[in-house]
Amino acid sequence: MSAPVLFSLSKDDPAGPALGKLIGADRGEIEVRRFPDGETYLRYGTEVKGRSVILFCTLDRPDEKILPLLFAAATARELGAMQVGLVAPYLAYMRQDRRFHDGEAVTSARFAKILSEQVDWLVTVDPHLHRRGSLGEIYGIPAVAVHAAPLISKWIARMVSKPLLIGPDQESEQWVASVAQAISAPHVILEKVRRGDREVEVSLPAIERWRDRTPVLVDDIVSTARTMIETVRHLKRVGLSQPVCIAVHGVFAGEAYRELLAAGAARVVSTNTIPHESNEIDVAPLLAEGVRTVTKPGLPA
Ligand code: R5P
Repeated sequence: MSAPVLFSLSKDDPAGPALGKLIGADRGEIEVRRFPDGETYLRYGTEVKGRSVILFCTLDRPDEKILPLLFAAATARELGAMQVGLVAPYLAYMRQDRRFHDGEAVTSARFAKILSEQVDWLVTVDPHLHRRGSLGEIYGIPAVAVHAAPLISKWIARMVSKPLLIGPDQESEQWVASVAQAISAPHVILEKVRRGDREVEVSLPAIERWRDRTPVLVDDIVSTARTMIETVRHLKRVGLSQPVCIAVHGVFAGEAYRELLAAGAARVVSTNTIPHESNEIDVAPLLAEGVRTVTKPGLPA
């Protein structure tokens, strides 16, 4: 059987080629561009007939990426691909998992349905599973989530002395607790109330006793950075030193990255699920593990 062929839809993303090398996939050529009227032009430059196709497309800013991705998946099939898988290091539309107000779209379920109809499997890193237990609840295809916590633990152990792990809200506990445990560091979880897209309040338990430690904030997503900024400000108020802020997924909407640094973060670090200047933790080996798992014969949907 021939090697799989991997096509990167995000041209500026080094994790795609790195993953290809780790799993022994051929590098496929694909041209994706916009016509002057904004429509998508897409052409495979590498034969896909009879081959296992892997599409690599991280899904931050998803609305502009999703149509080219769906065209790529459907076209690979039309051209005779044996199988079409998707590696999306950041999986979008995981946060609106409920109808909070009448008439709202539950976009996580809708998005999952759309993707599940077009690809045969999915690999991603730490999807935002809050009110759902697993991707299988909304994805109708084999879907593997790999976890960045061990890599984050290693980074902290190497770079930060006497860390105190801090999770900005209950949802972050799943990441923060396992990172802290791996390096035998203490951790605290804060209470967060979100009042709007850009309005967040956090409250701190008594953490003054940790004044001799370096605070390390860990969250799965930094988008507007309001959650981290409010936390950084509170730490300053109670006299802790400037924190290191770590995001699995650095979405950084608008000026979020600069604003977080300006608010007093000593350093802002992310994994490379989304290409950004803060990337310091490489997830390519994790993605390779995920692809090996999902393509193992016999994995149930
Ligand atoms: C929330 O549920 C997530 O875990 C993050 O805390 C949140 O997405 C961060 O968003 P923002 O950077 O916009 O405050």
